[in-house]
Amino acid sequence: MQVEKLTVEMTSFDGSRQVISNFSASFNKGINVIYGPPASGKTTLLQTLAGMNRPASGEIRNQGRLSLVSQVPEREFLHSSCACELGADNPEDVKKLSEELKEIGLNISIMERSPWSLSRGEKKRLALLRAAREYRNCEKVLIIDDPFCDLDKNGCAQVAQILKDSSNNVVIVATNRREDLEFLKGKGLEYSLIEI
Ligand SMILES: Nc1ncnc2c1ncn2[C@@H]1O[C@H](COP(=O)(O)OP(=O)(O)OP(=O)(O)O)[C@@H](O)[C@H]1O
Ligand SMILES: [Mg+2]
Repeated sequence: MQVEKLTVEMTSFDGSRQVISNFSASFNKGINVIYGPPASGKTTLLQTLAGMNRPASGEIRNQGRLSLVSQVPEREFLHSSCACELGADNPEDVKKLSEELKEIGLNISIMERSPWSLSRGEKKRLALLRAAREYRNCEKVLIIDDPFCDLDKNGCAQVAQILKDSSNNVVIVATNRREDLEFLKGKGLEYSLIEI
């Protein structure tokens, strides 16, 4: 995925501001970490890569499809149950998911519940599992905004595993925490650093 001279203006009731100015980068196969302080425009950039904002100028070139886990994962929940969110339409499908749920630290009992009723950490895990499943079956760009927030040590290790499993494709994550970079290094994961 290539980004050239991207400028993004965001608007809310109190006016418009330029959030990203003339940003260029190449996101290659493997893990790409967008690193910058709070409010530097990481989420805006990821959402723009995912087609959620229209850039004021510049170009985004992406051949493949894309999965996004946003910084507030519930923004992308669309269904009334966790099972439907994961594309499991019947008890047989739900049963097939039990191993994957366990791996990501979710209890199978949540399958009947509304994704909105989950804790923050559970929502994050559900969104990660959904993206990892969508991503596994075809070539896609995987984008995870703030991948380690709201997760305990096990959850972080599970995210590291998802990143490891995905490293034959383009993976883009964003963080404002240096500890996250140290954590990736500690897990033996190599990455390209893109500062914003
Ligand atoms: N819809 C909007 N209207 C106006 N300003 C916005 C809008 N969305 C984001 N911004 C502003 O753009 C700037 C960057 O926000 P963004 O959420 O992209 O930062 P971030 O780098 O992801 O921060 P964090 O590390 O805290 O997650 C902030 O100053 C924010 O207030
Ligand atoms: Mg953000």
